[in-house]
Amino acid sequence: MAGSSSISTFAKRLQGKVALITGGASGIGERTARLFARHGAKVIVADVQFASEKIQSDFGDSVSYVHCNITKESDMENAVNTAVSMHGKLDIMFNNAGIAGHTYDNITSFDYENFRKVMDINVYGGLLGARHAARVMIPEKKGCILFTASAAALVYGSTPYVYTLSKHAVIGLAKNLAVDLGKHGIRVNCISPTAVATPLSTRFFKIDEKRMQDVASGTACLKGVKVDANDMAEAALFLASDESKFVSGLNLAVDGACNLGTGSSS
Ligand SMILES: NC(=O)c1ccc[n+]([C@@H]2O[C@H](COP(=O)([O-])OP(=O)(O)OC[C@H]3O[C@@H](n4cnc5c(N)ncnc54)[C@H](O)[C@@H]3O)[C@@H](O)[C@H]2O)c1
Repeated sequence: MAGSSSISTFAKRLQGKVALITGGASGIGERTARLFARHGAKVIVADVQFASEKIQSDFGDSVSYVHCNITKESDMENAVNTAVSMHGKLDIMFNNAGIAGHTYDNITSFDYENFRKVMDINVYGGLLGARHAARVMIPEKKGCILFTASAAALVYGSTPYVYTLSKHAVIGLAKNLAVDLGKHGIRVNCISPTAVATPLSTRFFKIDEKRMQDVASGTACLKGVKVDANDMAEAALFLASDESKFVSGLNLAVDGACNLGTGSSS
């Protein structure tokens, strides 16, 4: 397993923690599931598609899978209950699953069905995840809820309207939750990734992984760094670990400062 030898020489930053990751079967969620497990967490992947056998064989009983459509309340409730019944608690809820939508919508050709579906998954799904996590975290007086928002809520004009709207809503949801749940000792934060090569982005932009990576690096002000989904997992690890124990209400942009400018190519 890549990295397993080097990790043993470092502290496992999530030892003893239980994490539920929606959308954990692919892309950013899968990288995060692997990283969290390497850091000692018990991870439950909650997704509409099966987690690969590879991740389960790499991590044995540290990573398990529960079928979950995050827009169905009974599925979300079951996913949280599964974490608690398997491991006795839920420390980290990572509301990461999301979609980009089917069409490159613009203001004159708006597709309501697409709008509804993107908002349903990206926003309502996250709200249900937070609700059921809060249900089990409030009595414990601690917990960590994370969301994956997007640089699309910080930089305008290159993503569809509905996707931008949905990710603004995610940030608003996280900040409201941070205020509301803080009194119960629950931290709530977001990461906002730049474009990274995953099935979502390569499908949406219709480009291959290599080109996607070039686009991501090219739009950053920070030059000379190759970005990929592991960088998002590392940010999630920081926000999930006790190293960020006084960090709440943050939207952490992991974008090489692309939200601050276009970045000079010279
Ligand atoms: N890849 C990027 O460039 C990028 C940039 C910014 C933000 N994001 C966000 O990152 C998150 C993860 O995306 P990704 O790029 O890893 O994509 P991905 O397609 O690789 O993974 C998304 C996962 O979510 C799951 N999913 C979709 N709908 C679901 C539902 N209703 N219930 C449960 N699971 C569902 C999919 O099955 C998939 O496993 C999303 O919220 C996305 O908006 C991605």
